[in-house]
Amino acid sequence: MANNNFNPWEIKGDIDYTKIIKQFGLKPFDKLLPKLNDYLLFRRGLIYCHRDFERIEKAIKNKKQFAMMTGLMPSGKFHFGHKMVADQTIMYQKLGAKVYVAVADIEAYNSRNPDVDKLRKDAIEEYLTNYVALGLDLKKCDFYFQSDRSKDGKKAGAYYSLANMLGRHTTFNQVKAIYGDISPAKLSSALLQASDMLHPQLKEFEGKPLPVIVPVGVDQDPHLRLTRDVAHKYPGYDFVPISSTCHVFLPGLKGGKMSSSDENSFIALTDSPEIAAKKIKKFAFSGGRETLEAHRKYGGNPDVDVSFLLLKFGLEEDDDKLKEIYDAYKEGRLLSGELKKYTIEKLENFLVEHQKNRIKAKKEVKKFLAKL
Ligand code: TRP
Repeated sequence: MANNNFNPWEIKGDIDYTKIIKQFGLKPFDKLLPKLNDYLLFRRGLIYCHRDFERIEKAIKNKKQFAMMTGLMPSGKFHFGHKMVADQTIMYQKLGAKVYVAVADIEAYNSRNPDVDKLRKDAIEEYLTNYVALGLDLKKCDFYFQSDRSKDGKKAGAYYSLANMLGRHTTFNQVKAIYGDISPAKLSSALLQASDMLHPQLKEFEGKPLPVIVPVGVDQDPHLRLTRDVAHKYPGYDFVPISSTCHVFLPGLKGGKMSSSDENSFIALTDSPEIAAKKIKKFAFSGGRETLEAHRKYGGNPDVDVSFLLLKFGLEEDDDKLKEIYDAYKEGRLLSGELKKYTIEKLENFLVEHQKNRIKAKKEVKKFLAKL
């Protein structure tokens, strides 16, 4: 069933996570593999539901081969919203996954941005460079553009053949039920994305069917439903069904949606510490009360406070400290200005460190691309 508030190319309204879990047949997490609790996105519930994640936990536990796949559609600057997928990519790499990263340049062309040169440049300078600066190991990563899968003709052929043959195993009615109204261009990118997610299992790539985890925001879940369905019906190969997880979205600075076209709705990982501080002071939505007296008396709302959320999504790694801040804010002991000051400090430290790492990352990326 299509959801009226979003599809993979557009998010319109508020997302009711509980409703979506039911509507799409996703599963909430109950007990996590202890190892996963080392990662804050998991232990803070920011990755909140899944399909067939048991298979991935088993692979991690038994040290069996598995892969992680993600794709990125460059849309300008790389910001803290994008960082969530990068963090998960690096996490799975550390947990032993072979990582596949696709630049969805064909999808971007088909769905929103026909300026392919610009988006390929952004993919490298913004996305890949930041992934590496955050800790992605390029040696254990298969990075490609949808438009240019591989110099190896056998590999490229396998990927594009799959993309072109999966369509036989769905119908227009099914596609409409999953996506709602969909253009031919978007449909062809949906099938290409299905090949992105499935092709690591082919003999030309990992050599055999194996578990693959695709972490996404819930807007991408329609792609997973289509992919799982066509893979199941595809007669030529015994694919292991794709596993996935969904993470919650980091809201935009002003509350509501983060939008790549509004610089003041996000903090980019290349923003200078000064600009970042200014953005927090001026724009970060506050869950504090109208007046100091009211705040002291009734307390604030950390759950909608964007400065607090930035801490929760990763800037504050210490759970005890995070809880202390949460409670103090809620009880009115911590003021909005004080919370912002703390977040700004954390943010500045992070950006200074990250931007240092970017200098090294740029060199690594350059070397890597020369060999691609
Ligand atoms: N559709 C994704 C996006 O809009 C990009 C993408 C392409 C992708 N192929 C993928 C994501 C495979 C996950 C797995 O961002």
